[in-house]
Amino acid sequence: MKTKTIIDIEPVIDASIFDRLQRLDKERLSESIRDVSILEAVNVVKSFGSNKVIPDLNFKIHDIQGKSEVICMLGPSGCGKSTILNLIAGLIQPTSGTLLYQGKQIDGPGIERGMIFQKYSSFPFLNVLDNIAYPLIKIKKIKKKEAYEQAYYWIEKLYLKGAEYKYPKQLSGGMQQRVAIARTLCSKAKIILMDEPFGALDRKIRWEMQDLMAELLFFNPGEEVTVFIVTHDIPEAVFLGDRIWTIHKGGIFSSDTIERPIADSRSTHMQHQFNELVSFFNEKIFNLELKAKS
Ligand SMILES: Nc1ncnc2c1ncn2[C@@H]1O[C@H](COP(=O)(O)OP(=O)(O)OP(=O)(O)O)[C@@H](O)[C@H]1O
Ligand SMILES: [Mg+2]
Repeated sequence: MKTKTIIDIEPVIDASIFDRLQRLDKERLSESIRDVSILEAVNVVKSFGSNKVIPDLNFKIHDIQGKSEVICMLGPSGCGKSTILNLIAGLIQPTSGTLLYQGKQIDGPGIERGMIFQKYSSFPFLNVLDNIAYPLIKIKKIKKKEAYEQAYYWIEKLYLKGAEYKYPKQLSGGMQQRVAIARTLCSKAKIILMDEPFGALDRKIRWEMQDLMAELLFFNPGEEVTVFIVTHDIPEAVFLGDRIWTIHKGGIFSSDTIERPIADSRSTHMQHQFNELVSFFNEKIFNLELKAKS
Protein backbone atom coordinates (compact mmCIF):
# COMPACT_ATOMS: atom_id res chain seq x y z
CA MET A 1 0.00 0.00 0.00
CA LYS A 2 1.23 3.45 -0.86
CA THR A 3 1.76 5.59 2.23
CA LYS A 4 0.73 9.19 2.09
CA THR A 5 3.63 11.54 2.79
CA ILE A 6 2.63 14.72 4.54
CA ILE A 7 5.07 17.54 4.09
CA ASP A 8 4.83 19.81 7.07
CA ILE A 9 6.99 22.88 6.62
CA GLU A 10 6.75 25.36 9.45
CA PRO A 11 6.76 28.88 8.09
CA VAL A 12 9.54 31.03 9.48
CA ILE A 13 7.45 33.62 11.25
CA ASP A 14 8.79 36.29 13.51
CA ALA A 15 7.67 35.41 17.07
CA SER A 16 6.70 39.04 17.64
CA ILE A 17 3.66 38.46 15.39
CA PHE A 18 1.98 36.46 18.14
CA ASP A 19 2.64 39.17 20.73
CA ARG A 20 1.29 41.77 18.34
CA LEU A 21 -1.95 39.84 17.72
CA GLN A 22 -2.53 39.46 21.44
CA ARG A 23 -1.79 43.11 22.17
CA LEU A 24 -4.21 44.25 19.45
CA ASP A 25 -6.91 42.03 20.86
CA LYS A 26 -6.55 43.61 24.31
CA GLU A 27 -6.46 47.15 22.87
CA ARG A 28 -9.61 46.52 20.88
CA LEU A 29 -11.53 45.27 23.89
CA SER A 30 -10.58 48.32 25.91
CA GLU A 31 -12.17 50.66 23.36
CA SER A 32 -15.52 52.26 24.05
CA ILE A 33 -17.93 49.34 23.89
CA ARG A 34 -21.72 49.75 23.98
CA ASP A 35 -23.62 47.79 26.62
CA VAL A 36 -25.63 45.65 24.24
CA SER A 37 -23.60 43.46 21.89
CA ILE A 38 -24.29 43.82 18.19
CA LEU A 39 -24.50 40.08 17.62
CA GLU A 40 -24.37 37.06 19.86
CA ALA A 41 -24.61 33.30 19.39
CA VAL A 42 -25.52 31.21 22.43
CA ASN A 43 -25.11 27.43 22.17
CA VAL A 44 -26.20 27.42 18.53
CA VAL A 45 -26.60 23.97 16.99
CA LYS A 46 -27.51 23.37 13.35
CA SER A 47 -28.17 19.94 11.87
CA PHE A 48 -29.24 18.98 8.37
CA GLY A 49 -30.88 15.61 8.93
CA SER A 50 -28.35 13.56 10.86
CA ASN A 51 -25.47 15.84 9.80
CA LYS A 52 -24.64 18.10 12.76
CA VAL A 53 -22.86 20.87 10.87
CA ILE A 54 -22.71 23.36 13.77
CA PRO A 55 -22.28 21.44 17.05
CA ASP A 56 -22.11 24.35 19.53
CA LEU A 57 -21.42 27.86 18.29
CA ASN A 58 -20.84 30.66 20.76
CA PHE A 59 -19.60 34.18 20.12
CA LYS A 60 -20.27 37.77 21.09
CA ILE A 61 -19.49 40.72 18.80
CA HIS A 62 -19.12 43.91 20.78
CA ASP A 63 -20.48 47.11 19.37
CA ILE A 64 -17.52 49.47 19.35
CA GLN A 65 -18.64 53.08 19.36
CA GLY A 66 -17.82 54.98 16.17
CA LYS A 67 -16.05 52.09 14.52
CA SER A 68 -16.88 49.53 11.87
CA GLU A 69 -15.54 46.03 12.25
CA VAL A 70 -14.73 43.48 9.59
CA ILE A 71 -14.63 39.82 10.51
CA CYS A 72 -13.21 37.51 7.86
CA MET A 73 -13.99 33.81 8.03
CA LEU A 74 -11.49 31.32 6.68
CA GLY A 75 -11.76 27.55 6.78
CA PRO A 76 -11.75 24.37 4.74
CA SER A 77 -14.57 23.70 2.31
CA GLY A 78 -17.63 22.25 4.03
CA CYS A 79 -16.67 23.45 7.54
CA GLY A 80 -19.88 25.49 7.88
CA LYS A 81 -18.97 29.07 6.92
CA SER A 82 -21.99 29.66 4.68
CA THR A 83 -24.23 27.96 7.24
CA ILE A 84 -23.05 30.44 9.90
CA LEU A 85 -23.77 33.39 7.57
CA ASN A 86 -27.20 31.98 6.69
CA LEU A 87 -28.03 31.61 10.38
CA ILE A 88 -27.05 35.23 11.07
CA ALA A 89 -29.06 36.36 8.02
CA GLY A 90 -32.06 34.45 9.39
CA LEU A 91 -32.37 32.50 6.13
CA ILE A 92 -32.19 29.28 8.15
CA GLN A 93 -33.11 28.62 11.78
CA PRO A 94 -30.88 26.94 14.38
CA THR A 95 -31.85 23.42 15.46
CA SER A 96 -31.33 24.66 19.02
CA GLY A 97 -29.72 27.65 20.72
CA THR A 98 -30.18 31.34 20.04
CA LEU A 99 -28.78 34.09 17.84
CA LEU A 100 -29.30 37.63 19.05
CA TYR A 101 -29.08 40.92 17.14
CA GLN A 102 -28.75 43.84 19.57
CA GLY A 103 -30.12 41.60 22.32
CA LYS A 104 -33.18 40.48 20.34
CA GLN A 105 -33.62 36.94 19.04
CA ILE A 106 -33.20 36.55 15.28
CA ASP A 107 -36.14 34.61 13.88
CA GLY A 108 -35.96 35.50 10.19
CA PRO A 109 -34.38 37.90 7.69
CA GLY A 110 -34.33 41.60 8.52
CA ILE A 111 -33.30 44.80 6.70
CA GLU A 112 -30.64 45.46 9.36
CA ARG A 113 -28.80 42.33 8.13
CA GLY A 114 -27.91 42.45 4.43
CA MET A 115 -26.55 39.45 2.53
CA ILE A 116 -24.32 39.71 -0.53
CA PHE A 117 -23.60 36.54 -2.52
CA GLN A 118 -20.87 35.76 -5.03
CA LYS A 119 -23.31 36.42 -7.87
CA TYR A 120 -26.90 37.43 -8.52
CA SER A 121 -27.43 39.63 -5.47
CA SER A 122 -29.41 42.14 -7.55
CA PHE A 123 -32.83 42.02 -9.20
CA PRO A 124 -32.30 41.40 -12.93
CA PHE A 125 -35.49 43.29 -13.88
CA LEU A 126 -34.54 46.52 -12.08
CA ASN A 127 -31.98 49.09 -13.19
CA VAL A 128 -29.10 50.14 -10.91
CA LEU A 129 -30.96 53.07 -9.37
CA ASP A 130 -34.08 51.01 -8.60
CA ASN A 131 -32.01 48.08 -7.34
CA ILE A 132 -30.32 50.35 -4.79
CA ALA A 133 -33.47 52.24 -3.80
CA TYR A 134 -35.69 49.11 -3.66
CA PRO A 135 -35.36 48.26 0.08
CA LEU A 136 -35.95 51.89 1.04
CA ILE A 137 -39.13 52.13 -1.02
CA LYS A 138 -40.55 48.65 -0.51
CA ILE A 139 -39.46 47.81 3.03
CA LYS A 140 -38.78 51.13 4.74
CA LYS A 141 -41.68 52.81 2.86
CA ILE A 142 -39.61 55.92 2.14
CA LYS A 143 -40.95 58.26 -0.58
CA LYS A 144 -39.45 57.61 -4.03
CA LYS A 145 -37.81 61.06 -4.34
CA GLU A 146 -36.03 60.75 -1.01
CA ALA A 147 -35.07 57.12 -1.68
CA TYR A 148 -33.53 58.10 -5.03
CA GLU A 149 -31.59 60.91 -3.35
CA GLN A 150 -30.11 58.45 -0.89
CA ALA A 151 -29.46 55.94 -3.68
CA TYR A 152 -27.59 58.61 -5.67
CA TYR A 153 -25.32 59.26 -2.66
CA TRP A 154 -24.22 55.61 -2.70
CA ILE A 155 -24.03 55.52 -6.50
CA GLU A 156 -21.36 58.22 -6.25
CA LYS A 157 -19.55 56.57 -3.34
CA LEU A 158 -19.37 53.28 -5.20
CA TYR A 159 -18.25 54.83 -8.48
CA LEU A 160 -21.41 53.80 -10.32
CA LYS A 161 -22.19 57.21 -11.83
CA GLY A 162 -23.22 56.86 -15.45
CA ALA A 163 -24.65 53.38 -14.88
CA GLU A 164 -27.85 54.43 -13.06
CA TYR A 165 -30.19 53.23 -15.80
CA LYS A 166 -28.30 50.08 -16.76
CA TYR A 167 -29.58 46.61 -15.86
CA PRO A 168 -27.40 44.08 -13.98
CA LYS A 169 -26.73 41.97 -17.07
CA GLN A 170 -25.24 45.04 -18.78
CA LEU A 171 -22.67 45.46 -15.98
CA SER A 172 -19.30 43.81 -15.31
CA GLY A 173 -18.99 41.45 -12.32
CA GLY A 174 -17.23 44.11 -10.25
CA MET A 175 -19.96 46.67 -10.97
CA GLN A 176 -22.68 44.16 -10.07
CA GLN A 177 -21.03 43.61 -6.70
CA ARG A 178 -20.78 47.38 -6.19
CA VAL A 179 -24.54 47.64 -6.81
CA ALA A 180 -25.17 44.96 -4.16
CA ILE A 181 -22.89 46.74 -1.67
CA ALA A 182 -24.55 50.10 -2.45
CA ARG A 183 -28.01 48.62 -1.85
CA THR A 184 -26.99 47.12 1.49
CA LEU A 185 -25.32 50.34 2.69
CA CYS A 186 -28.20 52.47 1.38
CA SER A 187 -30.72 50.41 3.35
CA LYS A 188 -28.63 51.21 6.48
CA ALA A 189 -27.94 47.56 7.24
CA LYS A 190 -25.89 47.32 10.43
CA ILE A 191 -24.61 43.87 9.59
CA ILE A 192 -23.35 43.01 6.14
CA LEU A 193 -22.87 39.35 5.32
CA MET A 194 -20.72 38.57 2.30
CA ASP A 195 -20.28 35.00 1.06
CA GLU A 196 -17.18 34.90 -1.15
CA PRO A 197 -18.22 38.26 -2.60
CA PHE A 198 -15.23 38.74 -4.88
CA GLY A 199 -14.65 35.06 -5.71
CA ALA A 200 -15.89 35.40 -9.28
CA LEU A 201 -13.77 38.46 -10.09
CA ASP A 202 -10.35 38.54 -11.68
CA ARG A 203 -7.31 39.54 -9.63
CA LYS A 204 -7.17 43.21 -10.65
CA ILE A 205 -10.89 43.85 -10.08
CA ARG A 206 -10.62 41.94 -6.81
CA TRP A 207 -7.87 44.30 -5.62
CA GLU A 208 -9.98 47.28 -6.68
CA MET A 209 -12.93 45.93 -4.71
CA GLN A 210 -10.72 45.39 -1.66
CA ASP A 211 -9.48 48.99 -1.91
CA LEU A 212 -13.03 50.24 -2.22
CA MET A 213 -14.12 48.26 0.85
CA ALA A 214 -11.16 49.64 2.81
CA GLU A 215 -12.05 53.18 1.72
CA LEU A 216 -15.71 52.75 2.70
CA LEU A 217 -15.12 50.97 5.98
CA PHE A 218 -11.81 52.17 7.34
CA PHE A 219 -10.81 55.52 5.90
CA ASN A 220 -14.10 57.23 5.32
CA PRO A 221 -16.82 55.48 7.26
CA GLY A 222 -20.27 56.90 6.64
CA GLU A 223 -21.95 54.39 8.89
CA GLU A 224 -20.85 52.01 11.60
CA VAL A 225 -21.29 48.48 10.33
CA THR A 226 -20.17 44.99 11.22
CA VAL A 227 -19.14 43.09 8.12
CA PHE A 228 -18.65 39.33 7.86
CA ILE A 229 -16.70 38.20 4.83
CA VAL A 230 -16.30 34.54 3.95
CA THR A 231 -13.34 34.11 1.67
CA HIS A 232 -10.95 31.43 0.48
CA ASP A 233 -8.40 34.10 -0.35
CA ILE A 234 -6.09 34.43 2.67
CA PRO A 235 -4.44 37.72 1.56
CA GLU A 236 -7.93 39.18 1.11
CA ALA A 237 -8.83 38.20 4.69
CA VAL A 238 -5.58 39.68 6.03
CA PHE A 239 -6.08 42.90 4.05
CA LEU A 240 -9.72 43.45 5.00
CA GLY A 241 -10.16 41.74 8.35
CA ASP A 242 -10.00 43.50 11.71
CA ARG A 243 -10.43 40.01 13.03
CA ILE A 244 -9.93 36.65 11.39
CA TRP A 245 -11.97 33.67 12.45
CA THR A 246 -10.71 30.28 11.38
CA ILE A 247 -13.63 27.87 11.25
CA HIS A 248 -13.24 24.17 11.91
CA LYS A 249 -16.11 21.67 12.01
CA GLY A 250 -18.72 24.39 12.55
CA GLY A 251 -16.91 26.12 15.42
CA ILE A 252 -14.60 29.12 15.77
CA PHE A 253 -11.21 27.45 16.05
CA SER A 254 -9.37 30.74 16.52
CA SER A 255 -10.05 34.46 16.46
CA ASP A 256 -7.15 36.83 15.76
CA THR A 257 -7.23 40.61 15.72
CA ILE A 258 -5.06 42.17 13.04
CA GLU A 259 -3.98 45.63 11.94
CA ARG A 260 -5.74 47.64 9.28
CA PRO A 261 -3.88 48.26 6.03
CA ILE A 262 -2.12 51.56 5.56
CA ALA A 263 -1.72 51.31 1.80
CA ASP A 264 -3.72 50.06 -1.16
CA SER A 265 -4.20 46.35 -1.72
CA ARG A 266 -1.58 45.88 -4.45
CA SER A 267 1.19 47.66 -2.48
CA THR A 268 0.18 45.96 0.76
CA HIS A 269 0.50 42.56 -0.95
CA MET A 270 4.19 43.32 -1.48
CA GLN A 271 4.96 44.17 2.16
CA HIS A 272 7.04 41.74 4.19
CA GLN A 273 4.92 42.04 7.36
CA PHE A 274 1.75 41.43 5.40
CA ASN A 275 3.17 38.31 3.80
CA GLU A 276 4.30 37.00 7.17
CA LEU A 277 0.72 37.22 8.42
CA VAL A 278 -0.50 35.54 5.24
CA SER A 279 1.89 32.61 5.84
CA PHE A 280 0.75 32.44 9.45
CA PHE A 281 -2.88 31.97 8.37
CA ASN A 282 -1.91 29.75 5.42
CA GLU A 283 -0.29 27.37 7.87
CA LYS A 284 -3.32 27.44 10.18
CA ILE A 285 -5.73 26.63 7.35
CA PHE A 286 -3.42 23.96 5.96
CA ASN A 287 -3.38 22.22 9.35
CA LEU A 288 -7.17 22.54 9.66
CA GLU A 289 -7.58 20.96 6.23
CA LEU A 290 -5.45 18.03 7.39
CA LYS A 291 -7.51 17.79 10.59
CA ALA A 292 -10.80 17.99 8.66
CA LYS A 293 -9.69 14.99 6.55
CA SER A 294 -8.67 12.92 9.58
N1 LIG B 1 -29.44 23.14 3.01
C1 LIG B 1 -28.63 22.13 3.32
N2 LIG B 1 -29.07 20.86 3.36
C2 LIG B 1 -28.28 19.83 3.69
N3 LIG B 1 -26.97 19.96 4.00
C3 LIG B 1 -26.45 21.20 3.95
C4 LIG B 1 -27.25 22.35 3.62
N4 LIG B 1 -26.46 23.46 3.67
C5 LIG B 1 -25.24 23.02 4.03
N5 LIG B 1 -25.22 21.68 4.20
C6 LIG B 1 -24.06 20.87 4.61
O1 LIG B 1 -23.43 21.51 5.69
C7 LIG B 1 -22.01 21.42 5.60
C8 LIG B 1 -21.40 22.80 5.65
O2 LIG B 1 -21.77 23.50 4.48
P1 LIG B 1 -21.40 25.03 4.21
O3 LIG B 1 -22.00 25.37 2.89
O4 LIG B 1 -21.80 25.82 5.37
O5 LIG B 1 -19.81 24.94 4.13
P2 LIG B 1 -18.76 26.08 3.70
O6 LIG B 1 -17.76 26.17 4.78
O7 LIG B 1 -19.47 27.30 3.30
O8 LIG B 1 -18.06 25.40 2.42
P3 LIG B 1 -17.47 26.09 1.08
O9 LIG B 1 -16.17 26.72 1.48
O10 LIG B 1 -17.25 24.94 0.16
O11 LIG B 1 -18.48 27.07 0.57
C9 LIG B 1 -21.72 20.63 4.33
O12 LIG B 1 -21.52 19.29 4.69
C10 LIG B 1 -23.00 20.79 3.53
O13 LIG B 1 -23.19 19.68 2.70
MG1 LIG C 1 -19.74 28.34 1.52
